[in-house]
Amino acid sequence: MKKNNLLMNYMNKKTKVAIIGYGKRGKTHLRNYSKINDVEVVAICDVNKNIIFGRDIKYYQDFKIMIDSEKIDAISICTPTNEHYPIALYCLKKGIHVLCEKPITLTIKQAQELSQISQKSKLILQVGYHLKFDGLINKLKSIIDYNELGKILMIRARQAHDWGGLKPFGWLLDKSKSGGGTIIDNASHYLNLFEYLLGNIEEIHAFSNNLSFKKDVEDNAIITMKFKTGILGEIETSWQDSSGRNNQLLICGSKATAEYKETNIERILEVKKYTQDKDEWNRLIRENIYLPKGIEQLSKKINIDNSKGLLFESTENMLNYFIGSIRKQTAIIPNNFTRTQQLISSVYESIAKKKVIKIKQI
Ligand SMILES: NC(=O)c1ccc[n+]([C@@H]2O[C@H](COP(=O)([O-])OP(=O)(O)OC[C@H]3O[C@@H](n4cnc5c(N)ncnc54)[C@H](O)[C@@H]3O)[C@@H](O)[C@H]2O)c1
Repeated sequence: MKKNNLLMNYMNKKTKVAIIGYGKRGKTHLRNYSKINDVEVVAICDVNKNIIFGRDIKYYQDFKIMIDSEKIDAISICTPTNEHYPIALYCLKKGIHVLCEKPITLTIKQAQELSQISQKSKLILQVGYHLKFDGLINKLKSIIDYNELGKILMIRARQAHDWGGLKPFGWLLDKSKSGGGTIIDNASHYLNLFEYLLGNIEEIHAFSNNLSFKKDVEDNAIITMKFKTGILGEIETSWQDSSGRNNQLLICGSKATAEYKETNIERILEVKKYTQDKDEWNRLIRENIYLPKGIEQLSKKINIDNSKGLLFESTENMLNYFIGSIRKQTAIIPNNFTRTQQLISSVYESIAKKKVIKIKQI
């Protein structure tokens, strides 16, 4: 079919979506797809037969049977990580667009293979690195791109939470299924975002421990890095931060500093610079270049509405973008998932070999 015909086809009909894996993330995808015009979730697949949808959606336990029985344009893969590759491969070979949760696969080779198949067959293959779909992060990107911060010198991120006071569950602690701990689970988001904001990372040196849960996957890590431009970076990541949710991003430039913070009760982006008062040698003037409007001042103990968190807004935007890319038959925002997979591997290699790893071009 010609490109224009295909486009008309998509514009005139509902995009039929199915979800594979109906755990925490699968539920979030379903909730957000329901908000998008002209999208119909036609079926859900989960190996667990005890799942209750509370909705009139067809249910399968075997993804191949679902794919072969239903007319599906696009799929969301929300299973444990080791299941991503065989499912994505099957879907792409059947001509179905794929949104796969992060990280795409357990190996770089698998990620490369999927990327090549999707490009060859002109299918959208997007990976769930949702930070770049967040409104504040986008604002931050334009602040950097418009040189409001000046020359970027350093970047630091922290992504940490405590599972709502619980522990990481089941497959996450099984390395053969998850590929690792908080590095592949959490730091992968910032490895992907750092390159989106500031270009290629050239060298990585990382440290980790498993002091929290004492399993064979790490639960705390510090990743240090140097970008091609000379910028220095650091990512701290943890599966045990008793404050609940503690995500931060600090970018220091020669003109100003940007600080993004996200906890269970608020999200804020501030860009600050201090200049010297000309009249008085020791006094500094603080100038807020950007402060978001409507940040509620929340008291200590309130009902926390998690639906306002970063994950929710950006997931909705990400799914919207995925559906939009299918309809326009093009994805503009670089997904860079193979490269992120390479960075994740380099972090683990650095820990295993106790040395700085140079990131090769693949
Ligand atoms: N983008 C993000 O911020 C984000 C957040 C959380 C999780 N994730 C990712 O989403 C994925 C799922 O995580 P989760 O927290 O929802 O896990 P989960 O354990 O809550 O859900 C996984 C579900 O997949 C089902 N499943 C397993 N194998 C299957 C198969 N072969 N076919 C069909 N169903 C199968 C399980 O029964 C389970 O219900 C992971 O890759 C994770 O890294 C991403």
